[in-house]
Amino acid sequence: MPQASNVLDRVLVMEMVRVTEAAAVAASRLVGRGDEKAADAAAVEAMRKAFDELYIDGTVVIGEGERDEAPMLYIGEKVGGAPGEGPKIDIALDPLEGTTITAKAGPNALAVLAAAEEGCLLNAPDVYMDKLAVGPGYPADVISLDKSVTENVTAVAEAKGVKPNEIIVCVLDRPRHAELIAELRELGCGIQLIPDGDVAGVIAVTDPETTIDIYMGQGGAPEGVLAAAALRCVGGQFNGRLVFRNDDERARADKWGIEDLNRIYKLDDLAKGDCIFAATGVTDGSLLDGVKRLRGGRMTTQSVVMRASSGTVRWISGDHRSH
Ligand code: FBP
Repeated sequence: MPQASNVLDRVLVMEMVRVTEAAAVAASRLVGRGDEKAADAAAVEAMRKAFDELYIDGTVVIGEGERDEAPMLYIGEKVGGAPGEGPKIDIALDPLEGTTITAKAGPNALAVLAAAEEGCLLNAPDVYMDKLAVGPGYPADVISLDKSVTENVTAVAEAKGVKPNEIIVCVLDRPRHAELIAELRELGCGIQLIPDGDVAGVIAVTDPETTIDIYMGQGGAPEGVLAAAALRCVGGQFNGRLVFRNDDERARADKWGIEDLNRIYKLDDLAKGDCIFAATGVTDGSLLDGVKRLRGGRMTTQSVVMRASSGTVRWISGDHRSH
């Protein structure tokens, strides 16, 4: 179990939920309105503002993009109401994970963040990452990105005591996954194809109720760090490998000081030491219910906040009356 961090102790863990709640509530006004950018902008602005209420000296290490690409919550931006005074916290965030989902009122859109002591979260460039994840309870290193799809499914099936065709795998529905899906079909696995939202997809392996055994496939690297922070808190195994498709992306690696382009990152490489993960549902999904706007200006939210050092997972239902 990782040691509890004094720095994070001084941050009210529960306060992190206010930040994801604010972003989710703001984005929820735009659910099903067909405007991804407006939904994202609303979430970003609300999250940025909510951070100001926290007594932290925060730095965004994974955010909305690089400084010249994103007006707010860019990588390197200082957030929090106590710059130079409060505890120094690194933050990985995605104010709206699932912009397209939100625009189309699909499942699994989240407002999400992870926080850790300075230097403990991987500064991942905005490239794709090959991801492979299983929930808790398996022997160490049961999965590996160095193994084939068939070998990984077979190893998980053996450890679970079932046949490979009883394994359920969650995969992002993308043309780039055609070969992966074909190999899984060959094995007879159940495949849950998700349209977007692989933070929730990866976390789904930790919840037996989803029946998902393995997460496989390529998604955003920043989302990989966020999902890894959650798995650090609830258990499970994760392998991630950055994918550099061209010289521009390789230059990003260089900029972030990444030397070994083929490195496989495990949970501790992505989120070290103690860390906090918080998320609020924007739309209903496998992890959380979305924001519900009820009559008379009432609104309900559902959030989760977890901490690696204690392994505590708190589910928080909010009933809001004045937004
Ligand atoms: P956005 O919130 O930025 O739209 O990301 C949604 C998402 O589905 C992520 O969950 C996933 O990691 C990534 O997009 C996959 O990227 P792509 O849509 O390019 O396949």
